[in-house]
Amino acid sequence: MKIPFVDLKAQTAALRPELERELAAVLGDCEFILGSRVRAFEAGFAAYCGRRFAVAVNSGTAALHLALLAHAIGPGDEVISVSHTFAATAAAILYTGATPVLVDVDPATLNLDPERLEQALTGRTRAILPVHLYGRPAAMAPIMDFARRHGLAVIEDACQAHGAELGGVRVPVSGTGCFSFYPSKNLGACGEGGCLVTDSEEVAARAAALRDHGQTEKYRHQYLGFNYRMPAFQGAVLKVKLPHLEAWTLARREHARRYLEGLAGLDLLRPEDPAGARHVFHLFVVRHPERDRLQADLSGQGIATGLHYPIPVHLQPAFAGRVRPAGPLAVTEAAARQVLSLPMYPELTVEQVDFVCAAMRAALSGHG
Ligand SMILES: Cc1ncc(COP(=O)(O)O)c(C=O)c1O
Repeated sequence: MKIPFVDLKAQTAALRPELERELAAVLGDCEFILGSRVRAFEAGFAAYCGRRFAVAVNSGTAALHLALLAHAIGPGDEVISVSHTFAATAAAILYTGATPVLVDVDPATLNLDPERLEQALTGRTRAILPVHLYGRPAAMAPIMDFARRHGLAVIEDACQAHGAELGGVRVPVSGTGCFSFYPSKNLGACGEGGCLVTDSEEVAARAAALRDHGQTEKYRHQYLGFNYRMPAFQGAVLKVKLPHLEAWTLARREHARRYLEGLAGLDLLRPEDPAGARHVFHLFVVRHPERDRLQADLSGQGIATGLHYPIPVHLQPAFAGRVRPAGPLAVTEAAARQVLSLPMYPELTVEQVDFVCAAMRAALSGHG
């Protein structure tokens, strides 16, 4: 059996007639940029997240950039975030001219450790940007409490966490968060896409202007903006896919449950399915000290895996000297050496999950 890490073909094939109809309609009316389809998707996605406004853009990175700008983050400011994330989290902070101040992650969750916030705080701190990595919500209650006490904005990087919940409330629980619709995400476009979701009318209005060259009306440029507009083709695709997101999320959670059962008892750190939260398992990430050997062994058995992420942001050449670690990032650096992402997508079959579990068992028992 050959098992890919992600399989976009199955989902695309299942929805193909409906996708072709919607894409043909765009070709018919030639409303190519933003427009009625993107507006309809924005309304649907805001409702899905339980928030008032959604501003669709052309990537998750753009959504993060605009969310920071809409909160007036800029040069001289500091934003607290994590190093154990995709580079775009820190890049978006740098695009504003602010400095990412990176704290270590909690060893149990691999998300921002709220205990580390105090050591990162300076007179220049303006915001906290926690990441709901792998689809597991970060510990938002202590993060929001810290932000309230120090007058900081909170912007959630929910690029991997569509539909994740804390205490029955969907992210972004703080009110403002950013999503990616990169094709392999839990909700994926057929190309690039992203969205900022917020309860703040002011943030939504500013982000909507900033995505469209800062225009508040045609050819009136209130701000120095960007071309971050979502193309209508992607809005049309996302509108077709959104009603399926819940079923896909439940399928991911069921695969995770089966993985957790199938991998029980192995000498391996398994991800938790936390009580009181809904982890949406964008990625199913195990940890093992001999990660590279394990990955090669699985590959030999026909199983593709991923590494999220093998080099922390603060050790990347592009970020050296630009980000400030707030203290030792030992948990982050250990995680980078140990994480291994197993195949995860809604269309995985029970047989495939069981095959991966058996392959892991063989790989681990073969080498004690
Ligand atoms: C945690 C995280 N933040 C930000 C991004 C950036 O999203 P995009 O690739 O859509 O720009 C991603 C997606 O890859 C991500 O996983």
